[in-house]
Amino acid sequence: MENFSLSRCELIRLNRDTFIVTFNEKIDFEPTQFIMIETETSIVRKPFGLGRWNDRLAIGVQVIGPGTAYIVRQEKLNAHGPCGKGFVPPKGRGAMIATLACLPMAFDLQERYDCDVFIGSVDEPWIEVPFPIVVGDEAFLKMLQSLNGYDWFLVIGSDQMEKIVYDALKDKAEVFVSFNEYMACGIGACRGCAKVTKHGLKHLCIDGPVLRGEEVWS
Ligand SMILES: Cc1cc2nc3c(=O)[nH]c(=O)nc-3n(C[C@H](O)[C@H](O)[C@H](O)COP(=O)(O)OP(=O)(O)OC[C@H]3O[C@@H](n4cnc5c(N)ncnc54)[C@H](O)[C@@H]3O)c2cc1C
Ligand code: FES
Repeated sequence: MENFSLSRCELIRLNRDTFIVTFNEKIDFEPTQFIMIETETSIVRKPFGLGRWNDRLAIGVQVIGPGTAYIVRQEKLNAHGPCGKGFVPPKGRGAMIATLACLPMAFDLQERYDCDVFIGSVDEPWIEVPFPIVVGDEAFLKMLQSLNGYDWFLVIGSDQMEKIVYDALKDKAEVFVSFNEYMACGIGACRGCAKVTKHGLKHLCIDGPVLRGEEVWS
């Protein structure tokens, strides 16, 4: 765990509100680990999943409020990390189901574990995406129904999208979910990211962010 500053290399716009930011620096991280980024809009740092794009360290950012708007404007960012447990998939054939903002994480996971990646989006992306992508709710549900022959799934997106994916896939294979709890410290100190699970209280910044879906949902 380190404090560091990151200098922006490229800002790639994916659609109306979603960007990939690539950085000049390199840091070691495991899939689904994240960094806590300082903003001028809040006293707490904000969590962003680490990934890669164009051979560089990268994060995807969906602009939803003042902190994310600040992050895509800045040329330099202060952060600490990597935080959280790296996701190690079980043996067998796997697939990641993600939103556009998770493209750098998905790219990294696919390179390391040779899994398939499926992207669900509300809008058409403005650039070519190197994975199958479905646009709109109906197409997304159809795509989920068509996913067979997998041993595990990993889903990363909004809370609502994750629950839909879990319900659709839980009887087909083990479903892992990256939970988007509010985080303040990212290092297990503030106890702000507690999640009730079947195995007791977990703190997602140190026990997660990825848990088995069935630990949290029935
Ligand atoms: C482990 C983890 C990894 C994440 N990775 C990504 C990523 O790769 N790309 C991405 O676009 N987003 C990611 N997020 C979500 C991102 O952190 C929030 O969208 C961001 O903090 C919102 O900040 P804001 O100031 O723009 O919005 P705000 O107006 O402050 O908040 C809007 C909503 O964002 C959520 N939020 C706000 N602050 C936090 C916080 N400190 N921690 C968690 N959620 C918060 C809340 O649900 C809030 O209602 C991740 C969240 C977690 C927990
Ligand atoms: S964010 Fe502080 S304990 Fe998890």
